Amino acid sequence: MSLNVKPTGIKGLDEILGGGIPAGWFVAMRGGAGVGKTTLGVQFLLEGILQYHEPGLLVTFNEPLLALHAIMRNYGWDLLSLQQMGELTILDFSSTEMGIMQQASRLREASLDYITQRIIDAVRNTGVNRLVIDPLNTFSLLFRDLFEVRKELHRVIGILWEEKCTTLAVYESTGEIVHDTKYPQFSTEDFLAYGVIHLQYITVHSVRERGIEILKMRGMPHSKKIHPFDITKKGIKIDVKNPIDFSEIS
Ligand SMILES: Nc1ncnc2c1ncn2[C@@H]1O[C@H](COP(=O)(O)OP(=O)(O)O)[C@@H](O)[C@H]1O
Ligand SMILES: [Mg+2]
Repeated sequence: MSLNVKPTGIKGLDEILGGGIPAGWFVAMRGGAGVGKTTLGVQFLLEGILQYHEPGLLVTFNEPLLALHAIMRNYGWDLLSLQQMGELTILDFSSTEMGIMQQASRLREASLDYITQRIIDAVRNTGVNRLVIDPLNTFSLLFRDLFEVRKELHRVIGILWEEKCTTLAVYESTGEIVHDTKYPQFSTEDFLAYGVIHLQYITVHSVRERGIEILKMRGMPHSKKIHPFDITKKGIKIDVKNPIDFSEIS
């Protein structure tokens, strides 16, 4: 069976991915605070809608809808009109839904079922081709133990694959995951995901830069290097041709 590779529509990203992401894959996108995860996630959904007519779903746990609209307007991205046109669906678990979540979290299973089911229902009902969960940490925190995280994630990943819904699952890296550029460490989500995209801050010759690295992408001829990227007024721009040389990293 050949991989049905679909371009993300983000030029530099597709180049370093080796063409794009196979349809229905669950890919972890991780990195520290402010490195550009939400920007890249929203850009992935927008390019899907604008270039390929692929509707998208954004599940937001951190940024309330109104804040998200305002932040994305800075990039000239009008999420509200895409929502109104039915191209973009946003599930906001950050504010209004939070009350329900907190109530439900007294009965952890209930809240788990609730959130997982809401996401799966939205994917099925709207027939979206792209999903961004921002971030997945909140979801994982609801589970009692690592075994449950694995079991439930495995189930959800299987459903997303059946639905041919390509997913970027944002993962906020904390101090628990050591960011050693030479010896990267992996989390449970990284092992379960078909691919792992890592956004990181790197100091090159005393200047802090942002770098993107494809740590894993099963069966794909992806770049093995760290590529510098900038967050511009129009989103993320990856410098494909000038990867960061490890020997320059201080
Ligand atoms: N319009 C913009 N132009 C350039 N850079 C921006 C713009 N908006 C945000 N940024 C940069 O993006 C960062 C936040 O990116 P974000 O995607 O929210 O990160 P994360 O989700 O990883 O925390 C900000 O700290 C800022 O440096
Ligand atoms: Mg974010």
